[in-house]
Amino acid sequence: MSDQSHPTDITREISRRRTFAIISHPDAGKTTLTERILRAGGAIQMAGNVRAKGERRRTRSDWMGIERDRGISVVTSVMTFNYGGCVFNLLDTPGHEDFSEDTYRTLTAVDCAVMVIDAAKGIEARTRKLFEICRLRDIPIVTFINKMDREAQDCFALLDEISSTLALDVSPATWPVGRAAKFIGTYDIRTKKLHTKEPLPEGDPRRVELEEECALAEGVLPAFDKDSFDEGHLTPVFFGSAMKEIGVTDLLDALVAYGPPPRAQQTETREVRADEEKVTALIFKIQANMDPNHRDRMAFARVCSGRLTRGMKLKHVRINKQFALHTPQFFFAQDRQLVEEAFGGDVVGIPNHGTLRIGDTLTEGEDLRFTGVPYFAPEILRRVRLDDAMKAKKLRQALVELAEEGVVQLFRPQDGAPPIVGVVGTLQLDVLQSRLGAEYNVPVGFDSTPFNLARWVTGDKTALEDFASLNRTAMADDVDGDPVFLASSSFMMSRAAEQNPKLNFHDIKQIGLAGE
Ligand code: G4P
Repeated sequence: MSDQSHPTDITREISRRRTFAIISHPDAGKTTLTERILRAGGAIQMAGNVRAKGERRRTRSDWMGIERDRGISVVTSVMTFNYGGCVFNLLDTPGHEDFSEDTYRTLTAVDCAVMVIDAAKGIEARTRKLFEICRLRDIPIVTFINKMDREAQDCFALLDEISSTLALDVSPATWPVGRAAKFIGTYDIRTKKLHTKEPLPEGDPRRVELEEECALAEGVLPAFDKDSFDEGHLTPVFFGSAMKEIGVTDLLDALVAYGPPPRAQQTETREVRADEEKVTALIFKIQANMDPNHRDRMAFARVCSGRLTRGMKLKHVRINKQFALHTPQFFFAQDRQLVEEAFGGDVVGIPNHGTLRIGDTLTEGEDLRFTGVPYFAPEILRRVRLDDAMKAKKLRQALVELAEEGVVQLFRPQDGAPPIVGVVGTLQLDVLQSRLGAEYNVPVGFDSTPFNLARWVTGDKTALEDFASLNRTAMADDVDGDPVFLASSSFMMSRAAEQNPKLNFHDIKQIGLAGE
């Protein structure tokens, strides 16, 4: 993205990267805000282009049929655009809680999150959960209170609710001018500038209200504090209406001014700073068959440090092999483009045929493994029922591919029984069924299993072998071949743990840390 003839200053390039995600409860306006942001960034000419319901995406992929039918956003994607001298990577997260694992992994790849709140509803269940994930990772949060063009709760009440429910300091960055149908813009508290769609004459009741409220806000609420924001303790709050395009540039300008540049990332052995010379990258998402005309498989990598260039050969640490980056790609709202160079913070797509998996690390030679990309023990376990026995081999292959992609988790019973799939939410089963049918032509159904819990088992080798042979029908291997114990109830699980003190039963598997 810069002139090839000049050597590029990594530090300068890194400092203008902004990689963020938008989190919200469904219907708060995430899709609309995404559109408006992309439009402000010149990435799309016309609003409506990124909508899951939109015509353009209908033909893109078969599994989007599910999004269309249910009006939800299932697919996580990334969009790169320029604004205010910065390169933004906007990562989309599925709003529905059934895809929380996908969301969690996406949040491992961002430096900042924009939390969208519906001004009439305040903090909702899903906002809170997503916020908690961000807090676990100390991700700085910018708050956008949306739908101010409608009847909304009192601003102070909203700020108070955010502060008390999330235990977070709130610092209003802007204040709304007018409310509901009379909402015409925002007032920037720091620069003291009005951004309104129409003039606001002296004596206008909205001006009087604004002056009174701002005086109160400045008196009782904390001023913006960059350190506190960077540590995730304070959120700057913006008011607006994504639909009416009010407050959107306030938000983007703030991300340019103080949105955090790429953070350091933890590996098993050391922390990797974004401005290090050598390239490192973490695969946090795999998406297959994005284009039904080409059986492609795209790994999404967050460049964690250095300057990545096309054609570069990187070390694929898990399998200890060289991996050539022939066609890394940037994703824009409407198309893709080959990456000539990318820097720490950027998210690039790397086409591959299954060599790259979620959690993989690429480096210029160092044996590093990024941590923090988890698998969660699924809460729903189903046996896959295949009506056409001729397709058993195809099903096995398809399940492995889809499990590597993170659509579901796959458990192969050690006694040779048919495969079991595990999911956090039942919508994942719908996605699996629909993709098996549409992309692999393998129609399946699901049967219940006697199991309701799964735990990864690690520990003393002999103890593990003894345990596995005693519990053959309840042991399975996950997609990486790591052993998993399946139990019918938490009582059975606790009993197994009590009776086997040399073994550990884990409900989260950190990729790259299996067996520890
Ligand atoms: P989501 O991705 O968070 O689920 O929300 P989305 O943007 O799809 O918005 C949910 C609904 O809220 C949409 O209405 C959208 O038009 C509306 N909306 C979003 N931002 C604003 C806003 O600032 N003001 C107002 N008044 N409405 C807003 P819908 O009727 O469900 O869909 P559509 O018919 O508009 O497509």
